[in-house]
Amino acid sequence: MSLNKVWVEAAKTEDIPEDGGACVLLNGKQIAIFHLKSKDQWYACDNLCKHKMQSVLSRGILGDHHGEPKIACPLHKKSYSLLTGKNLNGEDYAVEIYPVKMEGGLLYVELAEG
Ligand code: FES
Repeated sequence: MSLNKVWVEAAKTEDIPEDGGACVLLNGKQIAIFHLKSKDQWYACDNLCKHKMQSVLSRGILGDHHGEPKIACPLHKKSYSLLTGKNLNGEDYAVEIYPVKMEGGLLYVELAEG
């Protein structure tokens, strides 16, 4: 199994709503990208909420958990840290998160190669 990581062009910055998210398909996988305007930061995680396996996190609600950015699923409000992917409701599932970088108005997400 390859552990090499590559930066993949994901979206234009204007494609992601301020204080909101959008879903992009990268390497066959749905990735949710978020723009937290107050911190001028970008985050990415799997679009799939592990609670009921629904691909909805890009439509979730951005928030803050003791200074840590989080996304709350729009269906049953389970929350995940956007720094670690950890479930913040004390449940034992998590989502995968991905580094995001912005260059020249484009957003890149770092994914495992292949
Ligand atoms: S499917 Fe996301 S909280 Fe239930």
